[in-house]
Amino acid sequence: MRRDPVRYLSRIAHKYGDLSTFLLLTQRVYLVNSPELIHEVLVRQKEKFVKSEWQMRVIRPVLGDGLLTSGGKRWFDDRRLIQRALRADSMEGYAQQAVETTEQMIAGWGESTRVDLADAVTELSMSVSIASTLGIDPGPEADELAQAVRAGAEIFMKEIEEPVRLPAWMIPRRTRRRAEALATIDRFVGRAIARRRADPNAREDLLSLLLSVTAEAQAAGAPAHVLDKMVRDQAVTMMIAGNHSVSGALAWFWVLALSRPEVYDRLKQEVRDVVGQRSPEPADLPRLAYTKQVLQESLRLIPAAWVLFTREVTQDTALGEFQVKRGGWVVMSPYVTQRDPRFFPDPERFDPERFSPERIDEIPAGAYFPFGHGPHACIGERMAMAQMTMVLATLLSRCDFQADPGSLSLEAARDLAIRPKQGCPVQVKVRKPELAGAPMGLAHSF
Ligand code: HEM
Repeated sequence: MRRDPVRYLSRIAHKYGDLSTFLLLTQRVYLVNSPELIHEVLVRQKEKFVKSEWQMRVIRPVLGDGLLTSGGKRWFDDRRLIQRALRADSMEGYAQQAVETTEQMIAGWGESTRVDLADAVTELSMSVSIASTLGIDPGPEADELAQAVRAGAEIFMKEIEEPVRLPAWMIPRRTRRRAEALATIDRFVGRAIARRRADPNAREDLLSLLLSVTAEAQAAGAPAHVLDKMVRDQAVTMMIAGNHSVSGALAWFWVLALSRPEVYDRLKQEVRDVVGQRSPEPADLPRLAYTKQVLQESLRLIPAAWVLFTREVTQDTALGEFQVKRGGWVVMSPYVTQRDPRFFPDPERFDPERFSPERIDEIPAGAYFPFGHGPHACIGERMAMAQMTMVLATLLSRCDFQADPGSLSLEAARDLAIRPKQGCPVQVKVRKPELAGAPMGLAHSF
């Protein structure tokens, strides 16, 4: 389990079906692998299954009390607030941001180059995430922040898997790196908040939306430093929560799509038909149906967020025909369930047609949950899908990719998300944008 959890969990789920249990040292763990039982845990009996404090304790020093780490009434109120900040009419701006950042990346490639697309989309998604959250455009400032965000996330990703919690004095290097990363993140977020307060109309991004929804609380007398901390925690949470999964999802999309020439050709054809030579626009989203299908199938076969946060059982509880004990940990894995042949015939096959309008209804309710399920399901799903589709359409409309024969592998490396271990090395040919249209700058604000 410690060496290769993805494989271990897949094996026991295959052998035992809906629910399996094992001991991790002395800790009782339950793997829940059926849409009905997952619904029980995450929706019907949710108050008996709370996010495990063991995991939250290592994430909280970096993320603070954002949506991922908070609970109870605090989480409920914050979730409603952020839902308002992520309202449907702000999606256009986030999608447009993704197009512009991708075009800037392509401009740096010249006419032809070799890149590792997995690395490229990792950097790209960090840039998109920083720009959408704090309004900091790609450049040296964003790079410094990106480095700090990466360092902070790396540390808690390592700690989340350690079986023993070491005191700070035993890990001085890590403690210092975390403190430095946090100081940088806090400096950037603090500065972005101050800038936005000084000029509220400067730009519309997640930060300005968060500030506008907290302004009401401030008017009602809530102390400014409490609200600033809350905005900081939510902004950092959104930056980190979004970034890893988006970059993993985009990287797998390319590995899978480029391994199947007929899929890649159809993607190019769709983008040619819908977008042509201009830049993609948010209004194109509904017509990029096949691109969405391929993305959905990549998120089924290799969901970047391969496992949900562990839930802890707060009291002895019946789960279907099983009993789970207080103090036990419940693990639910989109990777495992979405490869279960009971729900997805021929599950190892990459087949975007599963999500075609004709076949999508064959997927059993609740068997597909790359964005989680129930009240804690991903709040960024709509934003992520819009931004990822725009990134893909921009790349497809401007570039031709050629993978080296035999270079694409489904072997996975794992941190908080799973990503292609061998990357996605490709030769890129960049097509010239048509002179009319195609804004290449980043002056845009939304
Ligand atoms: C491909 C992209 C993404 C995937 C696959 C993904 C996946 C998930 C999953 C599986 C959960 C549920 C975790 C659980 O229940 O244990 C989740 C929650 C969450 N996601 Fe995402 N996510 C993505 C993008 C984003 C983005 C772009 C943002 C922010 C802008 C975001 C913010 C969050 C937050 C804040 C939560 C916690 C929600 C809560 O507990 O109320 N995610 N995500």
